[in-house]
Amino acid sequence: MSVKTCKCACDTAENGREFAEIAKIIELYKDKEGSLIQILHRVQETYGHLPLEVQKFIAASLNKPLAEVSGVVTFYSFFSTRPRGKHTIRVCLGTACYVRGGRKIVERLREILGVDIGETTEDGRFTFEVARCIGACGLAPAMMIDDTVYKQVNVNMLENILSRY
Ligand code: FES
Repeated sequence: MSVKTCKCACDTAENGREFAEIAKIIELYKDKEGSLIQILHRVQETYGHLPLEVQKFIAASLNKPLAEVSGVVTFYSFFSTRPRGKHTIRVCLGTACYVRGGRKIVERLREILGVDIGETTEDGRFTFEVARCIGACGLAPAMMIDDTVYKQVNVNMLENILSRY
């Protein structure tokens, strides 16, 4: 089976190269078990996020309804329909972190970054998120930037931590 060309507005010259990359990913995974999730993961890695036009292209290519693709994208929190920052900050607001100052960390980061939870900074450097528990409860409050866990964080450490990125 060959990958079909999308008939929506995404089928333009400026998007051509990126969609060619996406088509290659679809070809690679389309016949595998659980292919939709694998394709969405790989496309997000390549494209950065999964906007509606990309979802439409994937749905058309796989002969699936757009609602099925969009349903998966919106169900899993690790899929994003908006551009993500180069780095992802996740402040833990699980019980241990919350009672030991997690909320203050969130408030201070809002001020420093100038964005709200779920948003990406204007310079595209950081996407700001919160988490339920990141497995460092004994050394709360904790936060992560990409794969690095920062423990016993206090508001005075934040600018120094961010300057490393
Ligand atoms: S509650 Fe924050 S690391 Fe577990």
